[in-house]
Amino acid sequence: MSMASVSSASFCYSKSRIGGVKPNIAAARPRSLVVVRAEAQAINPEIRKTEEKVVDSVMVAELSKPLTAYCRCWRSGTFPLCDGSHVKHNKATGDNVGPLLLKKQKE
Ligand code: FES
Repeated sequence: MSMASVSSASFCYSKSRIGGVKPNIAAARPRSLVVVRAEAQAINPEIRKTEEKVVDSVMVAELSKPLTAYCRCWRSGTFPLCDGSHVKHNKATGDNVGPLLLKKQKE
């Protein structure tokens, strides 16, 4: 599976700057630009792919909250806690990652 696609296109250097450096217009005119596009890739290549979302729970006796979700997709703005960012990632990539849920055990 390819992780990136490459295409070429003609490019006008007269109105652009690359990396803040003004290009040498006379030397650059006859050249073409190679465009490399990264494609979204699933973070989970093979684990329980038949499930819509992989969620695991661990029963823990001493937690301050009844439920704490820990991120496993590496996209949370509140990492290591889950903020729901896995939903957007799953939609964009077709992936099925979800959080690790720590649940306070009832006594
Ligand atoms: Fe990463 Fe929920 S935000 S698993």
